[in-house]
Amino acid sequence: MAFPEKLTFWWVLLVAIMLSPSHVSSFMTSSNSEANALLEWKASLDNQSQALLSSWIHNSSHPCKWIGITCKELNSISNITLPDFGLRGTLNSLNFSSFPNLQALELGGNQFIGSIPHEIGMLKELVLLDLSSNYLFGNIPTTLGNMTNLHYLSLYSNQFSGPIPPSIWNLVNLKGLTFYQNNISGSIPSEIGNLTKLSMLSLGRNLLLGSVPSSIGNLTELTYLNLCGNKLRGNLPSEMNSLRKMESLQIGENYFKGHFPQDICFGGLLVNITAHRNQFTGPIPRTLKNCSNLMRVRFESNQLTGNVTDAFGVYQNLRYIDLSNNALYGHLSPTWGQCRNLESLKISNNNLSGGIPLELSEATKLDQLDFSSNHLSGHIPKELSHLSSLSELMLDNNQLSKNIPIEIGLLTNLDQLSLANNHLSGSIPEQFEGLTNLWKLNLSGNKFSNLPSSLGKLQYLQFLDLSANSFSGGIPIMLRKLQQLENLNLSHNNFSGKIPSFFDDMKSLTMIDISHNKLEGPLPNIFAFRNASMETLKDNKGLCGNVSGLPICPTRSYSLRHHKRNKWVIYALSLGLGSVLLAIVLMGISYIVCHRKASQAKSQERDGRTQNLFAIWSYDGKLVYENIVEATEEFDEKYLIGAGGFGSVYKAELSTGQVVAVKKFHSVPNRNQCQQKAFVSEIRALTETRHHNIIKLYGFCWHSKFSFLVYEFLEGGSLDKILSDEMQAIALDWNKRIKVVEGVANASYYLHHGCSPPIVHRDISSKNVILDSDYEAHISDFGMAKLLYPDSNNWTSFAGTFGYAAPELAYTMEVTEKCDVYSFGVLALEIIMGKHPRDLMMSSTDTPIMVTHDFDLKEVLDQRLPYPRGSIAEKVLLIARIGFTCLNENPRTRPSMEQVCNELVVPKSYVSGSIP
Ligand SMILES: *[C@@H]1O[C@H](CO)[C@@H](O)[C@H](O)[C@H]1NC(C)=O
Ligand SMILES: *[C@@H]1O[C@H](CO)[C@@H](O)[C@H](O)[C@H]1NC(C)=O
Ligand SMILES: *[C@@H]1O[C@H](CO)[C@@H](O)[C@H](O)[C@H]1NC(C)=O
Ligand SMILES: *[C@@H]1O[C@H](CO)[C@@H](O)[C@H](O)[C@H]1NC(C)=O
Ligand SMILES: *[C@@H]1O[C@H](CO)[C@@H](O)[C@H](O)[C@H]1NC(C)=O
Ligand SMILES: *[C@@H]1O[C@H](CO)[C@@H](O)[C@H](O)[C@H]1NC(C)=O
Ligand SMILES: *[C@@H]1O[C@H](CO)[C@@H](O)[C@H](O)[C@H]1NC(C)=O
Repeated sequence: MAFPEKLTFWWVLLVAIMLSPSHVSSFMTSSNSEANALLEWKASLDNQSQALLSSWIHNSSHPCKWIGITCKELNSISNITLPDFGLRGTLNSLNFSSFPNLQALELGGNQFIGSIPHEIGMLKELVLLDLSSNYLFGNIPTTLGNMTNLHYLSLYSNQFSGPIPPSIWNLVNLKGLTFYQNNISGSIPSEIGNLTKLSMLSLGRNLLLGSVPSSIGNLTELTYLNLCGNKLRGNLPSEMNSLRKMESLQIGENYFKGHFPQDICFGGLLVNITAHRNQFTGPIPRTLKNCSNLMRVRFESNQLTGNVTDAFGVYQNLRYIDLSNNALYGHLSPTWGQCRNLESLKISNNNLSGGIPLELSEATKLDQLDFSSNHLSGHIPKELSHLSSLSELMLDNNQLSKNIPIEIGLLTNLDQLSLANNHLSGSIPEQFEGLTNLWKLNLSGNKFSNLPSSLGKLQYLQFLDLSANSFSGGIPIMLRKLQQLENLNLSHNNFSGKIPSFFDDMKSLTMIDISHNKLEGPLPNIFAFRNASMETLKDNKGLCGNVSGLPICPTRSYSLRHHKRNKWVIYALSLGLGSVLLAIVLMGISYIVCHRKASQAKSQERDGRTQNLFAIWSYDGKLVYENIVEATEEFDEKYLIGAGGFGSVYKAELSTGQVVAVKKFHSVPNRNQCQQKAFVSEIRALTETRHHNIIKLYGFCWHSKFSFLVYEFLEGGSLDKILSDEMQAIALDWNKRIKVVEGVANASYYLHHGCSPPIVHRDISSKNVILDSDYEAHISDFGMAKLLYPDSNNWTSFAGTFGYAAPELAYTMEVTEKCDVYSFGVLALEIIMGKHPRDLMMSSTDTPIMVTHDFDLKEVLDQRLPYPRGSIAEKVLLIARIGFTCLNENPRTRPSMEQVCNELVVPKSYVSGSIP
């Protein structure tokens, strides 16, 4: 009987509650106050962000339907999910008290700045807080410790500083905690052992001090632990042996010492272990041998000892292992060959002995093999030629002997080969001509005596070291074909005779060492020799030239010069005989085409400085030609201000007082009349290109004797020179570097999007960026590659500057704007690193920088400048991020120059009337 009564009572009560005005109003206010809080926050964001949140409109619809907003029961907001939206603003106007039921706040990958308001602690129901990859700074608020329901707390890639507040260790429900890549200081307290549910803990890339507390052994659920790149020291606690679920352990780049926990892979689940650059001693942990899931192992640069012969097993998934720079001994195990997915095996600079096992050749995915600086002996097995993916083979500084097997010539993907300082002898095999991708070849310190002429086919070679061998006779003529060679060492051989004249054409050469030979006669008149120190010339038979320490060459060179002069006089006379046409007729093959810059009254008004030149230029191109040849005394070296690209650059002061930069080409392909016309009209188009970040091209002279471009002259010099000079590099501070990156971005944007048809530069590099006296960047040589090599079949003959060319150029002729984007990426990184990012790019296969953010920006930034701070640091970081996205292998996933400019917030300009 009582039952129905009771039921009725509850029913009545329920209806009463539902109808009570107070409930209705409280429901309304809850929903309203949430909506209002969101709108208030939206209004504080910048206009672009507001546009992204266009569905957030008052009264239009229930906030539960707004983008990024989810509700649960009660129509109260449970999740705010706006990752990677590109939102800009602060969190200050977000009224946290308005969201009593919020479970997830996901704002990662935006551009929020400022600090986290401590009111965030009011979000008592919050399970997930993700503020990663923003520009937030300040201390981590203590009040986070009030959010005891938190399972995931992610603040990585911001600029938080100060210690981790102790209240964080109250968050005993945490499964994931990532503070990676901030400026967090202080130490790791033993209370960390309270967070027993943690599966992922990432404190890497901070400024943490002290040692790792033994209580870390209580975090038995840990699968991922990242402490890399801090200042942690001391021994790792043996309690870490109980972390049996560990899959990824990242503790590299600290000051850890002592023995590594030997049972670290007791659970057998370990996949990635990086412990490089510490001071660990003792043997390789014994449990690694049967740790069959290993994929990446980095122990390089420690003080590990012990016999490695049997320390490792067979791992089906192993991709990368580096044990370099330790004190390991023993033999190279043949079982490495059974690691069929191994791509990099590096054990350089240890005490390994014995031979190179031919079984290695079974690991056919190997890309990098580095056994340099050990005591390896025996011969180089010819079976290594099965490693067809190999790009880097480093066997230098061992005791390898006998001949180089001719099969090594089959390794057509090699780009670096070093066999230096062994006991190798005999001839360099003819078959080396197959190594067409080599850019670095070091054979020094052996007993080689014979150099095949086929080496001339290694057209991308930039670095060639033949020093300290037994080569004799004249300097080999095949060297003349190495048109990209920058660094050549022939020292400590028996080369004799004169230095051949073809060196005059080796314009790319910047470093030469010919010391300790039997060479004689004059030095070639190229940059590398003019800048050579006596150290690199000494101990020869009788060299002469204009280098301090060497005698001046006898008069013979004067008479040669005199002879040249005479020829020039005759030549000039013949030019003077009449019109350009007449000259062509008289001289048969010799003709001159000097294109005139169409004089633009407007441009003249805007830029008084160029008025003189325009006057001459439009008057008579021939006169300009003569004027320039005269001003540079037939391109005498004393006017040389730079080299590289397609030619050498001279500074010429014309008779009018105007100073111009003249780029004289090494060679210009021959053309017929028709091609000639097209060429001239394209040049005209380029001379009409006007933008304040692009060097003004005044005109072009094409002549059978000298062909050159005439540009505006800028005081600052080329970026590559500036970056390579300590003083100038320091003067180019962060603000200026940011400006340079923006300038190049803007110019490239203009070429791609502001020109019709778009101009692909094809050769963006630090050599082609010239600064003016205000450090404003101007790019030069735009469109030249296409002009000089219009025949697409010839494209491979010019693949841009080495180290800047997009990877697809290696296998496709398709040249798109995205090739420039790639080069821009390289250049942007070069500007903030102060040097070519070659090392980072090379290691990008083994260290997936972009994927894991596993690199330390602080370390790669140009160390000659103080570490940037505040908004400058943000900008530099942004440039690094953009730079890396531009380096994407796949051209389609690279951003466009427009996107780059948008990211950098560079005001884009199509046509610029404003000349600096
Ligand atoms: C942004 O919006 C404010 C106010 O609505 C306006 O004054 C300002 O001009 C806008 N800025 C831009 C860049 O559109
Ligand atoms: C809201 O966030 C919680 C906590 O992360 C999550 O479990 C839930 O799936 C999310 N809900 C929606 C609809 O995204
Ligand atoms: C939140 O945390 C702060 C600092 O840890 C503390 O002072 C405060 O009492 C906490 N508030 C609540 C409501 O727990
Ligand atoms: C947290 O850890 C400390 C020291 O390790 C311990 O004294 C304390 O009782 C722990 N607190 C909780 C709530 O477990
Ligand atoms: C870790 O666990 C051990 C025993 O399991 C316990 O004695 C110790 O207090 C714990 N430490 C922490 C910090 O919780
Ligand atoms: C191990 O490293 C590789 C390469 O960086 C990565 O793809 C993989 O996800 C990592 N595995 C674990 C468990 O961390
Ligand atoms: C290293 O170990 C291997 C196999 O265990 C053994 O044959 C070799 O002699 C050892 N090498 C040294 C130098 O002790």
